[in-house]
Amino acid sequence: MSNVDNFIFIIFGGTGDLSKRKLIPALFNLFKEGQLPDNFAILGLGRKTYNDESYRNTMIDSINQFSRQFPPDKNKLSKFVSMIFYQSLDMSKESDYTNLKKRIGSIEKRMKIGGNYLFYLATPPEFFQRVSRSLKIQGLHKNKHHGSWRRIILEKPIGRNLESAISLNRDILNIFHEDQIYRIDHYLGKETVQNILAFRFANGIFEPLWNHNYIQHIEILAAEQVGVEDRGGYYDTSGALRDMVQNHLLQIAATIAMEPVSTFEAKAVRDEKLKVFQSLRQINPEEVTKQVIRGQYIDSTIRGKKVHSYRNENNVNPQSQTETFVALKFYIDNWRWGGVPFFIRTGKRLPTRVTEVVIHFKKTPHHIFKTDKSHSPLGNQLIIRIQPDEGILIKFGMKVPGAGFDIKNVSMDFHYSDLTDAKVPEAYERLLLDALLGDGTLYARADSVEAVWKFIDPIQLAWENNRSIKLYGYPAGTWGPKEARELFNDPTEDWRYPCKNLTGEDAYCEL
Ligand code: BG6
Repeated sequence: MSNVDNFIFIIFGGTGDLSKRKLIPALFNLFKEGQLPDNFAILGLGRKTYNDESYRNTMIDSINQFSRQFPPDKNKLSKFVSMIFYQSLDMSKESDYTNLKKRIGSIEKRMKIGGNYLFYLATPPEFFQRVSRSLKIQGLHKNKHHGSWRRIILEKPIGRNLESAISLNRDILNIFHEDQIYRIDHYLGKETVQNILAFRFANGIFEPLWNHNYIQHIEILAAEQVGVEDRGGYYDTSGALRDMVQNHLLQIAATIAMEPVSTFEAKAVRDEKLKVFQSLRQINPEEVTKQVIRGQYIDSTIRGKKVHSYRNENNVNPQSQTETFVALKFYIDNWRWGGVPFFIRTGKRLPTRVTEVVIHFKKTPHHIFKTDKSHSPLGNQLIIRIQPDEGILIKFGMKVPGAGFDIKNVSMDFHYSDLTDAKVPEAYERLLLDALLGDGTLYARADSVEAVWKFIDPIQLAWENNRSIKLYGYPAGTWGPKEARELFNDPTEDWRYPCKNLTGEDAYCEL
């Protein structure tokens, strides 16, 4: 039985990629698993001229192509698409919102839905204010009666710097209450990111070690093998710092770094994360070169195939200064983390697709087992693999059998795929369900978004204002500029490389 109230899910940008690849397949999977109520409707909005039937057919194609559960059950699929409707709408035309209101009213009557609307803004952010204002003019933002709800989900980016984020938050908060607003960060919906909380707070053995006394440093990696694909136009105005670090990766860092909550409630979790963001030590313009390395992929040959540079991608400025790689060292100035460096590395066209967190524990204070064979004692590592091959790995030293006391690092490895009944749902399934249930725990709050921009802005500004800060080229298929290694104070330290570069003779990639 579903706990979700009857609802209409209204998608601005209903014909776009996000709707096709993520939103509609996620809603279908929720429906298939019985998580949606008997009465609901989905209304796609866009400028294209579909009718309900032709829109439904496109959505069937999307589900067939992108649904997690394949093949979709035919009966369920046809029942599901009968709940989908389409209305053409030009977001800048007020009269179209009047028509939208009428259409919502008629669907609501026909499908027996009692006034609960979830608006999803899968649009470029420059439309957020415009659309919200029109929803207000039409009175669509306010609860119809006691017990019914109106909510709005905003896709990232929330602003492109602190100033624009503040202005966007202010405008939207003039129309909707904070608890009606859901700022989506799909990384927070990933099962393995949620599991960081369970791992930390449902186990007694790790938490005592989770601080500056035992942890040497923390590494967060989000590598992508793909380039910018067909998103050059957007990406060239964004770059890796805004696209990945400002949101997904700092959210992961906060999940790793936050204090335990006393009750698992949205406010408590978000308050603790906010404290982490507020404790981020600002990187001054003169420190940017010491703490941040940026790169951009250049031409290369991967397994005999030519791969062209970022500047040759569609809709990218041939002289673009946009970074497709960032490596960043930062500190969280609080009691738990004082002095522990956090390292983030992300990029496009790296050797493989992998997102992971590596907790590097301090080495033993004294090395007892000194042998000729120099297996230098490594600190223990805890590796939380967020994707793919979701799981957790612990590395520790073991005696190599035989004479002497040679120590070798071995692994204890858990894979989600070993759980026979495990089905890792898509991030969007969890997040959409939460928004329908009114649970904002896994969504970003206005104050957090602004606190993160406060940290990001000086880096971005230093890059923009100081052209002498280098943008390093790195061949596509490699782990980014070698200068990224210089972020470690200790020259024996290095990043973790889950596989080798793809460009050399010995190129391989196996996790
Ligand atoms: C998006 C970024 O938010 O996340 C993309 O805009 C990036 O550039 C994507 O490719 C990565 O998401 P995932 O879930 O594939 O790791």
